Amino acid sequence: MTSRIIGTGSYTPAQIVTNDDLAKIVDTSDEWITGRTGIRERRIATEENTSHMAVEAARRALENAGMKPEELDLILVGTTSADHCFPSVACEVQGALGAVHASAFDISAACSGFLFAMNALQAFIQARMYRTGLVIGVDCLSKLVDWNDRSTCVLFGDGAGAAVIRAEETGIRHTVMKSDGAKWQVLSCISRTNGNFLNNKDPKLGYLYMDGQEVFKFAVKKVPECIHEVLDESQTEIESIKYFVLHQANYRIVESVAKRLKQPMSKFPMNMERYGNTSAATVPILLDELNREGKLESGDRIVLSGFGAGLTWGATLLEW
Ligand code: ACO
Repeated sequence: MTSRIIGTGSYTPAQIVTNDDLAKIVDTSDEWITGRTGIRERRIATEENTSHMAVEAARRALENAGMKPEELDLILVGTTSADHCFPSVACEVQGALGAVHASAFDISAACSGFLFAMNALQAFIQARMYRTGLVIGVDCLSKLVDWNDRSTCVLFGDGAGAAVIRAEETGIRHTVMKSDGAKWQVLSCISRTNGNFLNNKDPKLGYLYMDGQEVFKFAVKKVPECIHEVLDESQTEIESIKYFVLHQANYRIVESVAKRLKQPMSKFPMNMERYGNTSAATVPILLDELNREGKLESGDRIVLSGFGAGLTWGATLLEW
């Protein structure tokens, strides 16, 4: 018994912000951003919040799967930009969809969030606790970045992607998930600080911080390693993989991973040019685009891989 993706959906805000638009608010240029990252534009939420994007992506995934919300047993949301400290985005989605039979909670693994949530659902299904679930990767990092910091604000965008997953005989073949909490400072965002009548301080909110070069080095080393691990442990030839759907942070990271894996770039679809880095949403948005473009056929072998703050990273091998 394993689990299979039976429907996908995604949602990105309507508002497009180009590199030239950003050059009007910080000292940057289209040439710098495109050359270093591959990003040309991103979608930024103006009216939408995190749960709104998640609900829209979920509705589209359910429609694609031909399923009703009442048929869901579990909703897991990978996010680090929930609208509330509590309740979870997953509970907000459950309520909005009317998924009255589903349990719901969030998983915090930053840009690896969708992958970690999908792997958790797979474990629940293998343990026969649940049969059908919804996994969402969603982030609205535009509310966490410092719009005066050119080294980070140009990288991110907002969006959501979702997948409906059901117990079946074929589908997910193997997964690996890794964490290195000793390196948490490389990529972080402080939440509300303690401020109260005892210490006489006002609580403060922080912005996203990133050591870009450390993240780059981490990603190009760990992503190929975990992809090799997932292939070796499932005794799968790398040549049999049709697509490597990687976290869309930076085209140079994807190119470097392809080179290290000795695989052609044609196996590495990319869309960061249009959306920037949407954190937990990049992998499911890209998967949804491939699905809707008819590029995925039954039996195709695909590797998904995410990496991000924590540090966290992982890979999943599945058959479509
Ligand atoms: N526009 C113009 N100049 C800039 C900008 C900008 N937006 N941002 C930084 N610079 C300048 C810096 O100030 C610096 O100037 P200096 O030499 O005068 O000091 C110069 O560009 C080089 O800065 P670096 O930080 O060394 O640039 P680098 O080549 O490392 O590129 C980048 C930065 C793109 C972030 C790169 O480190 C990278 O790709 N890192 C990977 C991390 C990543 O993609 N993170 C995404 C989020 S994390 C995740 O999803 C897991």
